[in-house]
Amino acid sequence: MTKLSVNINKIATLRNARGGNLPDLLKAVSDIQRFGAQGITVHPRPDERHVRYQDTLDIKPLITTEFNIEGYPTKEWMDLVLKVKPDQATLVPDPPDAITSNAGWDTVKHEGFLKEIISELKKNKIRTSIFIDANLKQIEHAPKTRTDRIELYTESYAKDFTKNKESAIKPFITSAKLAHSLGLGINAGHDLSLENLNYFYKNIPNLLEVSIGHALISDALYYGLENTVQLYLRQLK
Ligand code: PXP
Repeated sequence: MTKLSVNINKIATLRNARGGNLPDLLKAVSDIQRFGAQGITVHPRPDERHVRYQDTLDIKPLITTEFNIEGYPTKEWMDLVLKVKPDQATLVPDPPDAITSNAGWDTVKHEGFLKEIISELKKNKIRTSIFIDANLKQIEHAPKTRTDRIELYTESYAKDFTKNKESAIKPFITSAKLAHSLGLGINAGHDLSLENLNYFYKNIPNLLEVSIGHALISDALYYGLENTVQLYLRQLK
């Protein structure tokens, strides 16, 4: 089974645009889970322009599924994650001012750093995942960091899907097979949508989780949140 974890950063962005509490992020967390999503993802950034650190603390008691916190592991982010103790922490290498995650880890260059952070998270019984390109060299080296899972960075798949879906998926199939043979769990995310999700799901073996934010929250403007969650869940069958 592939779990759908809904990234709720965009709901927080909309709330923050007016400074009040509309839309109510905490209500959205409860509703999204009630509508059938199997996880909630947040990506608190240092400037708190989306989900704030306090939101992350407030969300934890509402989680009935799985809580995934993404981010670059600064000291502040690690302090937050160790306090919240989510089910999973996903490490991303993006700089603080990035609009969105824009690259996977270099697992060779950052092996030592990742190993240290991952060991701290695992000591606290938090499952770990590292954001990574569909690049065999990077995946081959990933087990050295002792991560439980990798999250395949799917932006290139989403971009190329519209031109040639067979060639777009190819590096992801090879990557997933290698990762599985190395004992790594496989997650995926970035620019997955109603258009490209089912083809990804059907072709990628052992896909444990997809985390989806931008397209899903955008689709909710047209279809409503409940219908949209259902539509995404249907792509994973
Ligand atoms: N995975 C990671 C590591 C991300 O940073 C993001 C975006 O915050 C996503 C998945 C979700 O991407 P999208 O918003 O394009 O669905």
